[in-house]
Amino acid sequence: MDLDTVKREISALFDIEGVSREEVASYIVVPQDTTLGDYALPCFRFAKALRKSPVAIAVDFANALNAKEHPFKKIEAVNGYLNFTLDRNAEAGKILSEVIAKGSEYGSSDEGAGKTVCIDYSSINIAKPFHIGHLSTTVIGGALYKMYKKLGYNAVGINHLGDWGTQFGKLIVAYKLWGDTIDIEKEGMLALTKIYVKFHEEAELKPELNDEARYWFKQIEDGNEEALKLFGMFKELTLKEVGKVYDRLDITFDSYNGEAFYNDKMAPVLEELDSQNLITVSEGAKIVDLKEYDMSPCLLVKADGATLYATRDLAAAFYRKNTYDFYKCLYVVAYQQNLHFKQVFKVIELMGKEWYKDLVHVPFGMVSLEDGTMSTRKGKVVWLKDVLDKAVEKSYAIINEKNASLANKEEVAEKVGVGAVIFFALSNNRIKDITFSYDKVLTFDGETGPYVQYTNARAASILRKAGALVNDLNKPFTSDELEGLSGKEGEELVSLIGRFRATVADAVQKYEPSIVTRYVVDVAKSFNRYYLNNRILNAEDKFIRARLALVYATHTVIEEGLRLLGIKAPEEM
Ligand code: ARG
Repeated sequence: MDLDTVKREISALFDIEGVSREEVASYIVVPQDTTLGDYALPCFRFAKALRKSPVAIAVDFANALNAKEHPFKKIEAVNGYLNFTLDRNAEAGKILSEVIAKGSEYGSSDEGAGKTVCIDYSSINIAKPFHIGHLSTTVIGGALYKMYKKLGYNAVGINHLGDWGTQFGKLIVAYKLWGDTIDIEKEGMLALTKIYVKFHEEAELKPELNDEARYWFKQIEDGNEEALKLFGMFKELTLKEVGKVYDRLDITFDSYNGEAFYNDKMAPVLEELDSQNLITVSEGAKIVDLKEYDMSPCLLVKADGATLYATRDLAAAFYRKNTYDFYKCLYVVAYQQNLHFKQVFKVIELMGKEWYKDLVHVPFGMVSLEDGTMSTRKGKVVWLKDVLDKAVEKSYAIINEKNASLANKEEVAEKVGVGAVIFFALSNNRIKDITFSYDKVLTFDGETGPYVQYTNARAASILRKAGALVNDLNKPFTSDELEGLSGKEGEELVSLIGRFRATVADAVQKYEPSIVTRYVVDVAKSFNRYYLNNRILNAEDKFIRARLALVYATHTVIEEGLRLLGIKAPEEM
């Protein structure tokens, strides 16, 4: 039982004149020394109102409460305190039975029923490499998406594609000039990146190429058929390639409405801003002045009439509000864009839309590689696909060494390698800058993905060995059986398992998937400690069922916890 539940349970037992249940709940404490009880109610708090000594009050309370049925093992008056001792075995039995009854639904709830949360994540740019810098937004967003769903929210995953901008004019020019020198079928996006880099090199010598690029970008905007066809091809190619990576990362979206989608949706917002006198014209450009709020102005329309990233985000926020009537709209975007989101949210606030409060920027730090290769310039990019491939290759080698006879080694290596990369990206408080190293993320004995997966596979192997015994876990446990869980390691593991739902809720509330990552590591460590010191299948007969249930519950929460993070859990490795 967590503290809130305890407070509820205890205060509900009170039917005493002059004592309010709210007061009781608010005075309950966890004593420093828990040898006398797990929770205590200091009775001096009631001395004035009841005009009795704390010692006498405690005795009265104890008598009154013990006359009722209650969920505690002991309620006792000691020196003016009312002490409550939990019935750990009964607690443990309740938790394990719940996991067994619910399976992977354990920890789910409907607290979010009727509420929609939009999550803007990954949001890649068309015809640009999907690189290691996109890892965090993709997996943080994907994890929050799954966690919200687990808590009963309606989650809407949005890939706000960067599919608009002058770079597409450049790409068209490059493609028309050098398209026949590349093999898109074979090289995919890499080929596009090549001619894009070439464009920049050539444009230094022949600046008129830039004019041509502007011309072709205008053609896209104006709906020229040839321009749209080429652009459509770039887009398709990009989505096909990133789609493969998304599949490996277990990432899905409900909407791919990107920047271009808002082409015809900005005008009404700009008009509304105008009618509210919020727009200032400065050197021909339309801005919202934010000096008063210590921010640079939010630039919405350039002097040449072009709209901007912020204009599109403004239109997108209105569109999402109107379409989904969200309870919250999250933007999982690097902290480099802090100012951008502050400006956009401020503009919406100034427009008098109360829902500006529901817009949340969820920023995160940078990922760099150990050898410092991160730069996107000059084609020196680290593609996310390559990182995953290399991690899988290295996992394969490790697995081959540890367990050469394992079946489906390739499949397991894919789960371990990709899982290790995701786990790494979700390991730290998201705002931290982090450095990626293959060796660190792939080790089986640190706080890593493979460590957790390996522990889970160990639990799975016990369950396999148990065979038909596992079918026998859904009968209630007797207190004799539950004695098999007593002891520090067992109690700690059960209590961790009991905190699964609250942990997911905490992660969602703080937009911090690493809370769940931390949790699965804690469960894995706790399980390993338990396993080291307690026999399971060869324990005393009367203990086997409860201990097996503990293994089952461990396997369930680790597997489900990993799933929320986007990580697969092999049954054997
Ligand atoms: N495509 C943008 C980038 O790569 C990220 C978009 C984030 N989402 C948004 N609604 N602004 O920087």
